[in-house]
Amino acid sequence: MITPKYKRIMLKLSGESLAGEKGYGIDFDVVNRITNEIKEVVDMGVEVSIVVGAGNIWRGRNGGGMDRTTADYMGMLATCINAMALQDSLESIGVLTRVQTAIEMKAIAEPYIRRKAMRHLEKGRVVIFAAGTGNPYFSTDTAAALRGMEIEAEVIILAKNIDGVYDCDPKTNKNAKKYDKLTFYEVLEKDLKVMDSTATSLCKDNGISIIVFALDTPGNIKRVVQGENIGTVVEN
Ligand code: GTP
Repeated sequence: MITPKYKRIMLKLSGESLAGEKGYGIDFDVVNRITNEIKEVVDMGVEVSIVVGAGNIWRGRNGGGMDRTTADYMGMLATCINAMALQDSLESIGVLTRVQTAIEMKAIAEPYIRRKAMRHLEKGRVVIFAAGTGNPYFSTDTAAALRGMEIEAEVIILAKNIDGVYDCDPKTNKNAKKYDKLTFYEVLEKDLKVMDSTATSLCKDNGISIIVFALDTPGNIKRVVQGENIGTVVEN
């Protein structure tokens, strides 16, 4: 078996990635494909933590004239729904998991406790962090960066519907150039849409690396974990 490059990873899944072609809600065929890929890397001995977004259920900016804070809390609740779907799917294929929420809802899941999360990871359990950072105005990308650093993940692997970071939108510009490597400084300076600037700055200031890759190509999670050069690496 190929030795994985990383021992502990943070996988950021967008909410949209769980919706598949439907574009809304949860497509369990898609979820099951993703969780089978996660199982592959767990079986390689990699400690996996996950932060999941909520765009398949709720987008804060869809709140129209709503109070931003309320809209953001609704998004945090939606991440919990996605976390439970992932947990259920992972457990159905024999992967041990724990969900921890940044906002206490103890009847549903454990509250976020860093040392407990680390212990779960050491025991080979996949830890799914739900409810973002627990704060409005912060994205789930920021939650992935924050939790990734807290639990000492070696890398944040950022699953996207595109195979890396481009200098402009490849859907509208056929000359768009994909970057293999970037620094966080370049991401901020060129205003590249990798993560929002809060998450990018957090990674830049604390020296964790990000790998952006396409989730819809089967086997990509494993490829990234094995250190194959797919997608775009962002590091200092
Ligand atoms: P260790 O015993 O340390 O290996 O971890 P453990 O997670 O197995 O132990 P614990 O007794 O804390 O948890 C047993 C089960 O209860 C697990 O499925 C946890 O996710 C769950 N659990 C623990 N704390 C809470 C909580 O506050 N709320 C909810 N809903 N579940 C919890």
